[in-house]
Amino acid sequence: MKRKFFPAAIAAALWPSVSALPAQTPAVVAPAAIQTQARESPLFSARGSQFADSVLKLMTLDEKIGQLNQSPGEGSQTGPRVPVGGEALIRAGRIGSFLGIWGADYTRGLQRVATQESRLRIPLLFAMDVIHGFRTIYPVPLAEAASFDPARVEFSARQAAVEATAHGLHWTFAPMVDIARDPRWGRIVEGAGEDPYLGSSMSAARVRGFQGGDSALSIGAPDALLATVKHFAAYGGAEGGRDYNSVELTERTLWETYLPPYEAAVRAGVAFVMASFNDIGGTPSHASDWLFGDVLRQRWGFRGAVVSDWGGISELIPHGVAANRGEAGILGLRAGIDIDMSDNVYIDSLGAAVRSGKIPQALVDSAVHRVLRIKYALGLFQDPYRFNDVARERRYTLAAEHLVASRLAAREAIVLLKNSSKTLPLRKDTHTIAVIGPLADDRRSSLGGWAADGHPDETLTVLAGVRAAVGPSVKVIYARGSPVDTADTTGLAAARDAAAQADAIVLVLGETESMSSEASSRSSIELPGLQLELARAVLRAARRSTAFVQTDTTPKPVAVVLMNGRPLAIPELAREAPAIIESWFLGSQHGAAVADVLFGDYNPGGKLPVTFPRVTGQIPIYYNHRNTGRPSDTANHYTSKYLDLPSSPLFPFGYGLSYTTFAYSNLHLSSATIAAGDSLEVSVDVKNSGDRGGDEVVQLYVRDDVASVEEPVKRLVGFQRIASRAGDTRTVTFRIRPQSLALYDRQMRRVVEPGTFTVFVGTSSDDVLTAHFTVTGDVLVLASPPTRFR
Ligand code: BGC
Repeated sequence: MKRKFFPAAIAAALWPSVSALPAQTPAVVAPAAIQTQARESPLFSARGSQFADSVLKLMTLDEKIGQLNQSPGEGSQTGPRVPVGGEALIRAGRIGSFLGIWGADYTRGLQRVATQESRLRIPLLFAMDVIHGFRTIYPVPLAEAASFDPARVEFSARQAAVEATAHGLHWTFAPMVDIARDPRWGRIVEGAGEDPYLGSSMSAARVRGFQGGDSALSIGAPDALLATVKHFAAYGGAEGGRDYNSVELTERTLWETYLPPYEAAVRAGVAFVMASFNDIGGTPSHASDWLFGDVLRQRWGFRGAVVSDWGGISELIPHGVAANRGEAGILGLRAGIDIDMSDNVYIDSLGAAVRSGKIPQALVDSAVHRVLRIKYALGLFQDPYRFNDVARERRYTLAAEHLVASRLAAREAIVLLKNSSKTLPLRKDTHTIAVIGPLADDRRSSLGGWAADGHPDETLTVLAGVRAAVGPSVKVIYARGSPVDTADTTGLAAARDAAAQADAIVLVLGETESMSSEASSRSSIELPGLQLELARAVLRAARRSTAFVQTDTTPKPVAVVLMNGRPLAIPELAREAPAIIESWFLGSQHGAAVADVLFGDYNPGGKLPVTFPRVTGQIPIYYNHRNTGRPSDTANHYTSKYLDLPSSPLFPFGYGLSYTTFAYSNLHLSSATIAAGDSLEVSVDVKNSGDRGGDEVVQLYVRDDVASVEEPVKRLVGFQRIASRAGDTRTVTFRIRPQSLALYDRQMRRVVEPGTFTVFVGTSSDDVLTAHFTVTGDVLVLASPPTRFR
């Protein structure tokens, strides 16, 4: 995308000084949306509804269908533009919203055409994929989930909303909350990983952040961005991890694991839901009246609008459930898809379908009613230019406070995977540092996959971050080594030389940003290209030259920095490299945040939101699996395992180290017995037993030991990211409520069953203290069974 402006003040702000940053997690208070919160969401106001009724009465059928039509913009030299003929369509009332078009000034012009030159003067909506930032880019969602800090995540979304709305946008297609248990699936980078509880926390946090508060109350403020929870449903269950593939799930797994994060977004007041491309067991989502009717609207009470995914309605033809576009349109509208994204199916065929009686006019009307209500809630009928303030656009584009917050979010997202013999942090008073690797200076990858209007030239790479951190007195040499994914060996010798010369080595390896995200599944999640060769060469060179640089007992420090949008299978690296940090794709401040961690200006505290397998063949592997009747036992051949692999992952869910250590003790339950329906308090002492301050994510898991159905071996039901100083002990308290103990029984009722439960509290999913309690009394039914999947 072409850059628009980049004043010197902004350039300076790209380098917020480290001293200006708090050492550890600051208290995060999300800036409220500009207007004071209303008591009732404007989205559902009676006045909005009456207004929509009155407009509907004036509309022709074609104008109504126009409101359901969303058209994509096109890139151009000067930024995104409407396609040829677009303005005429706006004038004719044939377009209700655009996607991928922004700019306070440009969208003002289009809004003017809509509200002054079309018959009914209905304003337009402008939507875009603002996934992890607009121009200031924050860590990719998988990375943000690794922070285990919903307040921080809400804050990033809030700032992204401020920036995006200042550019004329009303609506984002985020959060993406698809649970993914198969890291071959490239879109795992866009979600929060494998766990439904963590996923739900992140989902709600991001909805609140975008929309400026809870329950859609702030919608209507000029900095509140309408959120879209996607992709409904279970898109992350793609068989074989191949994007767009079919999903085979039991109803139980759908309800237990995949649906909770969407429901959390609905509870947080999300304005839109987007349908998913996949089918579940033969029913494509875009044709599923069960998903949008029974589950979304009836069971969850969703009152916003539903948008198709790009082309998803006409894809009902290759799915094999519609013979032509006309049939596809009817299926889509009947299923409950209100807005047709970029497909032109509704605009081309719904008119004829209504006129011939194939579909009731009332279905069109209720979809249009929802769209009008949303436009009314944004205040666009009163003032269509509320989001078109060029001064605001200038004020918030790459605002200094956004860049600082992006760096804070990035530091929190980093996970320390290994740190033998305190290799890290590195010393800044070193003579020569070699920064090696194909990703070390890759600006585009640092930004991550859905970088909206993010510009690579406004991004700090690891190389830039290291240089800035150590200053001019330290010699920093850079060698690219091998490319990310080709067999080119020409750079290996230079990398070896650099490693031999340096006193400390930072080796940046992984995947480019384009190797994850949409349509970017990989059949192998091992390190691509010759990067393992490069790592071997660098490690060998470092070892050989060590004796000449430092004493024999202090090997030359080598820190591997991983950049990737999915778990990687890196068993050899994990064995051989002295230190590894997982940096994902951290956005505008990638390199600054990595340098903060490398040199100890920040003590990493992130944890893995997804299991890292040893090899691709170990997939699917996730911590909340069922036990089976023959759980893995190396001493017993006839148990559930592979002959050629340990059963454990390389790094488990919830894992992450720190430069300090934490000791857990005194796990205490407020009661050994509770009645079903009661709650319980769990407390634990967490001592910072090392020599520096740091963050720890205290994790709480439960298991119903004996239940009517087989429960996962443990389920995350709580977490807290705490900061503590060296030597401090903090008592961390959780409340376990009936919802956390509930399961779907054989009738699919949501129940708490009496019996014993195990509580696990610890630093990762496989390093925990345990305690037990008993639930007494009768089975407590929290919810009746949902309607059967169809
Ligand atoms: C993706 C969606 C995205 C949409 C609009 C689709 O291909 O699946 O996640 O929101 O495009 O860009």
